[in-house]
Amino acid sequence: MKVAVVGATGMVGEVMLKVLAERNFPITELIPVASERSVGKKLPYKGNDYTVVGLETAVSMKPDIALFSAGGGTSLEWAPKFAEVGTTVVDNSSAWRMDPTKKLVVPEINANELTAEDKIIANPNCSTIQLVMALNPLHDKYKMKRVVVSTYQSVSGTGVKAVQQLENEIAGIEGEMAYPYPIGRNALPHCDVFLENGYTKEEMKLAREPQKIMNDKTFSVSATAVRIPTAGGHSESVNVEFENDFDLAEVRQILSETPGVVVQDDLENNSYPMPIYAHDKDEVFVGRIRRDETQPNTLNMWIVADNLRKGAATNTIQIAEYLVENNLV
Ligand SMILES: NC(=O)c1ccc[n+]([C@@H]2O[C@H](COP(=O)([O-])OP(=O)(O)OC[C@H]3O[C@@H](n4cnc5c(N)ncnc54)[C@H](OP(=O)(O)O)[C@@H]3O)[C@@H](O)[C@H]2O)c1
Repeated sequence: MKVAVVGATGMVGEVMLKVLAERNFPITELIPVASERSVGKKLPYKGNDYTVVGLETAVSMKPDIALFSAGGGTSLEWAPKFAEVGTTVVDNSSAWRMDPTKKLVVPEINANELTAEDKIIANPNCSTIQLVMALNPLHDKYKMKRVVVSTYQSVSGTGVKAVQQLENEIAGIEGEMAYPYPIGRNALPHCDVFLENGYTKEEMKLAREPQKIMNDKTFSVSATAVRIPTAGGHSESVNVEFENDFDLAEVRQILSETPGVVVQDDLENNSYPMPIYAHDKDEVFVGRIRRDETQPNTLNMWIVADNLRKGAATNTIQIAEYLVENNLV
């Protein structure tokens, strides 16, 4: 496969190269792509250096697959140009996610919807992916009515500028601000931009994307998204009301049998998911599984995953692997 990584110099792009190498993705030619600022830079991959090219050059090279993580504007403009020359694009931005003509895919849940005609495929939002990984198997069994989720999101979710802001604050250096306020020793109830309804765009992604991925509009999701000064992954406090009652041991059993999910819930040994341990791992970790004692058929849990891996790079590459394995590219 001739594979372009668009946004290769960014936070997600860097992890994308690492995960492609780790999983031994069948690459015959790697094309790292970034903005004009980075053209000519060298990026290492499997012991060799590859030169970053611009978008126009990359399109002219007609890659089989282009893995995009370069922001929504770049995707809106350039993904169709790649698709026109026959490239299949898997896009990490929010540009195409809610477009009814594009699939929004978490491979463990709905990769079977993909066909060779899908030339632009959307990767869901990072906080959505870890949420649906845990919700989907429970929905199949108990049928969800309503989910209330509060997120505790890593600065790495905003990109290199935000990680730099936190590092500068820790080192006591003045520098460029990615957020309107300091993030160290702080919590910002403000992920992405505010919308007219008073929610942020991130909160509305969490509300809408699960219904599309799970192909079911019978449940609703209400979200509050908060940025905190961690770097290893996103955490989520999740309250789920089901139509049917559940058994806690069975919930744990279902989750522990779900591919890609790890139950970490041993209170006697203070074992529960945390971003420092989820960091650099592909699994979604679920713990603090308990009954909400204030209303029937309702569950509380805590979900943690590395937003740059399962939340972005790993999910994208799993989609690409599915396409290759099923001769869809
Ligand atoms: N961070 C996450 O957890 C996460 C998770 C899921 C999805 N995403 C999405 O992935 C995308 C990238 O996020 P990130 O965190 O990796 O951001 P980032 O660290 O700021 O990196 C942005 C990348 O995009 C490139 N880029 C920017 N403008 C470009 C242009 N006009 N043409 C070509 N390349 C351009 C940059 O190249 P230069 O280095 O040359 O500027 C860089 O490689 C965003 O759409 C984001 O929403 C991020």
